[in-house]
Amino acid sequence: MKELALLTGASSGIGLEMAKELAAKKIDLVLVARRGEILVDLKAELENKHGIKVYTFAKDLSDPANAMALFHDVKDLQLQVTMLINNAGFGGYGNFVETSLEEELSMIQVNISSLVALTKLFLPDMIQQNHGRIMNIASLLSFLPFPYYSVYSASKAFVLSFSETLRTELEGTNITVTALCPGPVDTAFNTSEMLQTNAYDANKPMDPQIVAKKGIGYMLAGKGTKIIGLMNWFIANMPRFSPRWLTLKITKHLASRKK
Ligand SMILES: NC(=O)c1ccc[n+]([C@@H]2O[C@H](COP(=O)([O-])OP(=O)(O)OC[C@H]3O[C@@H](n4cnc5c(N)ncnc54)[C@H](OP(=O)(O)O)[C@@H]3O)[C@@H](O)[C@H]2O)c1
Repeated sequence: MKELALLTGASSGIGLEMAKELAAKKIDLVLVARRGEILVDLKAELENKHGIKVYTFAKDLSDPANAMALFHDVKDLQLQVTMLINNAGFGGYGNFVETSLEEELSMIQVNISSLVALTKLFLPDMIQQNHGRIMNIASLLSFLPFPYYSVYSASKAFVLSFSETLRTELEGTNITVTALCPGPVDTAFNTSEMLQTNAYDANKPMDPQIVAKKGIGYMLAGKGTKIIGLMNWFIANMPRFSPRWLTLKITKHLASRKK
């Protein structure tokens, strides 16, 4: 069966590198992000370099109606998506009482609602073919609550929980769900405010190319939840060894501005 990967958030960072990684494996692509002009340039580059077919869709996933419209656009072209990578997402840093409600509601729509909508819409065809791969980009913050990233860390806890339950429901089929959980990655995600916190001293951002390569490898191999990097593994597993109040003290310190 001809593989076709739909990848959201393909215009920069981890998503851009995953697009290149999939293209190098000769997998056709459906690329999605708001910045359509970047996707059009990427399409030309990847088609020329790898002889694959790339489709692009400029969509704002902060409105889940656009995720539904994307599904219909893809169906209208009679494309059969065999791999779904829900990578589009963004974070935010600050005291919850001071941060923007509009931004946070938009974050919930992109990080959660559109991810759920796309999974719901593309899964039935995978079930029918008994063939598919889904990968959701979760985070190190999926494993433990991080003060000053309150809505973001809660949104990524959702992504991990959703991915693991869906993976379990799909046991016995040929469809797997991977939750990729990176720690800090060197992309536009990290604002200058975030970079001035303690967390980044001890845990330097990783190269997005490395994260993308590992992620695609895990997804193709049908792996479940994968944390990238040994340091991130230790931080993610902190709640197993320390009481919740202590975990929160530590994550509050990590997320605080450097003195
Ligand atoms: N960087 C990190 O430290 C880190 C760590 C753990 C997890 N993650 C996760 O990794 C994923 C990718 O982030 P990144 O680090 O690669 O950041 P990035 O470089 O900022 O890329 C984010 C991607 O998401 C897309 N996107 C954002 N808002 C969107 C919207 N409303 N509609 C459609 N697309 C939207 C962006 O495209 P447009 O702007 O063109 O729409 C862009 O392609 C995210 O889910 C993030 O939460 C990142």
